[in-house]
Amino acid sequence: MRYQDVIPEQAQSTILCTVNFKKDVDTSVIVDTFRDFCERLHPTMNSMKIRFPYDNFKFAMGIGADAWERLFPLSEKPKELARFSEIKGKEKTAVSTEGDLFFHIRADKMDVCYEMMLIIHKLLKDVIDPVDETHGFRFRDGRAIFGFVDGTENPDIEEAQDVVYIDDENDPYQDGTYVLAQKYTFDLDLWETLTIEQQELVVGRTKEYDLELSDDKKPSNAHTEISKAHDRMGEEVKIMRANIAFAEPSKNIFGSYFLGYSKDFSITLQMLQHMFEGKDSDSHDSILDYFSTVSGNLFFVPSYEQLDKIATGEIK
Ligand code: HEM
Repeated sequence: MRYQDVIPEQAQSTILCTVNFKKDVDTSVIVDTFRDFCERLHPTMNSMKIRFPYDNFKFAMGIGADAWERLFPLSEKPKELARFSEIKGKEKTAVSTEGDLFFHIRADKMDVCYEMMLIIHKLLKDVIDPVDETHGFRFRDGRAIFGFVDGTENPDIEEAQDVVYIDDENDPYQDGTYVLAQKYTFDLDLWETLTIEQQELVVGRTKEYDLELSDDKKPSNAHTEISKAHDRMGEEVKIMRANIAFAEPSKNIFGSYFLGYSKDFSITLQMLQHMFEGKDSDSHDSILDYFSTVSGNLFFVPSYEQLDKIATGEIK
């Protein structure tokens, strides 16, 4: 295995979990426990795939900047790994929250996700504190929680490899990737005051059949217009995105867990800046009138070779 499984093909169930390393446990104990965990990851993936061959099981783990600095002070940090800085626009804010490790677990059955989460718990429980655990589901025919199909303009699977995994041979973290993890709550009541046509103007696509609105109909602050990123030559650049629906309707909690995987975090950042700080005469992405961030963090997702180097102490 070369890469961690990050390319977000849809699965029926997802667990997204963020934890911190305990502050009151000696760092050397944490390092030993985490090395052991990394050593066990590859065989654990094999074992999970043997045990649940038909359940589309996938797993990825990311490491946050603070954790990297604490655990591996002598090894160069992945180039773009830094604590995510809050983006404060005139009206909307992308918050920055803590998190040392991030787990992205997917399978077509929730009990398979649970099985992996239980293994993590057994191996790491003495050295971690929970920050957030969100259980998500595939919503209808691949829709984000607000009822629009998600992922349509993502790169296809082959193109995604180029977009996601670091491919610079001179980068010591080649084959790794960065993930922006942001949890959003969603104001369903407010959203439902809009007509379908008004909702379509917020997104820039039609609701039922997921067709792009024509240029003359699509507002400049529609999500699919304002969030786009471009390189210096003006060419559109992409990342690999996923919005995982979660909800506890009896508590009036609805939300979308956004994941943006990219070998180049500056692309994701440009998209976020457009959304939260606005672009040209628009102050923000109009999707943000209905969604608010409750967490935001950047993690580096090492390749299996790098996980081995952590296990053997070569990354220290
Ligand atoms: C509440 C959070 C979000 C929701 C519910 C959401 C939902 C959607 C939906 C439904 C689409 C249209 C279908 C598709 O191509 O995927 C879309 C497109 C897109 N989203 Fe989001 N999104 C969210 C957050 C973000 C964030 C944080 C970013 C960037 C960091 C982003 C970047 C984009 C981009 C670049 C497109 C494609 C635009 C195009 O080329 O048409 N989205 N999103």
